[in-house]
Amino acid sequence: MEKKYNAVITALGMYVPDKIMDNAYFEKIVDTTDEWIRTRTGIKERRLLEQGATSDLAAMAAEDLLKTYSINPEDIDVIIIATVTPDMFFPATACLVQEKIGAKKAWGFDLSAACSGFLFAFQTGASLVESGTYKKVLVIGADKMSSITDYTDRNNCILFGDAGAAVLLEPTEDKTLGLQDSILRTDGSGKEALYMKGGGSLNPPTHETVDKKMHFIYQDGKAVFKVAVKGMADVSYELMIKNKLTGDDIAYLVPHQANLRIIDATADRMGISRDKVMINIDKYGNTTAATIPSCLVEYYRAGKLKKGDKIILAAFGAGYTWGASYIVWSMD
Ligand code: UT7
Repeated sequence: MEKKYNAVITALGMYVPDKIMDNAYFEKIVDTTDEWIRTRTGIKERRLLEQGATSDLAAMAAEDLLKTYSINPEDIDVIIIATVTPDMFFPATACLVQEKIGAKKAWGFDLSAACSGFLFAFQTGASLVESGTYKKVLVIGADKMSSITDYTDRNNCILFGDAGAAVLLEPTEDKTLGLQDSILRTDGSGKEALYMKGGGSLNPPTHETVDKKMHFIYQDGKAVFKVAVKGMADVSYELMIKNKLTGDDIAYLVPHQANLRIIDATADRMGISRDKVMINIDKYGNTTAATIPSCLVEYYRAGKLKKGDKIILAAFGAGYTWGASYIVWSMD
């Protein structure tokens, strides 16, 4: 059945903590160099939330959005938080954010899809809007990655940072704008390449799980790198073919920011030049669910996006989870 509405982004906001951890800082705490980190990952700095939790990152991003666009929090219908670092198992971070921002009429939930979290939450939020049932859906990607990072493990600690970013989705009858199409995938066979081993119902927390450092990120970087390069590039290319798009048609690729080399490989496969690839990995590292929306916020605020621009969002992460979404920018 032909849908009546498309979901469009009508407002944006973000929050990064002030505290900066640059590469020189990591040279002091683990056996690494600025040169290795920059050339292997593209990262120069990341942010650290010293006090507070993911709900604070998410609420600050939401408040930035609400203030910038003078939106009454009581008009928000739904809050979806993409995160792998919820404040606690339950209640959902969405409940904590609902209270913090005063969204008294909203319901909401958390969505766990790691680095693809924002893409999955965006599709979910858009579907709620397209159904015609909900008019204002807040989709937030937020992660306090520092809370699950082992700062003695040089393989992982240099990669991650803390951030939150939010978009508001609303309906439009103009089908040329907003979310046009998505291809989203999961493959649980990747579960042991990137995961947190302890803390869940499989390995509930014990002294032993703490001693074995099972509450931190574990990643087989090399294995993930290989599948991420292929997965993100393949799905983005498939989405382009499906929608009859060439590299020239696309104003921006907005890739998940895990590694500049993965981003470059995806752009090459899509035939997209580097000036049309949104990048903020150098400033924030991998902020998991916040990478894609924070890029959108920063490039929009820098005046680099205009109404009608064709944009591909693409991500790859733990699970495995991956996908790409095609949107047409809707804000002046
Ligand atoms: O966001 C979710 C999805 N995640 C990703 O997409 C991440 C995918 N993986 C990656 O981005 C990369 O694999 C990493 C950045 C994690 C690692 O880069 P790499 O080029 O794959 O390095 P490697 O793991 O193959 O390690 C190469 C060498 C090793 O030394 P040996 O065995 O060759 O002697 C590592 O021990 O680099 C060493 N190494 C380091 N050296 C200096 C690993 N980490 C560091 C470090 N500083 N921080």
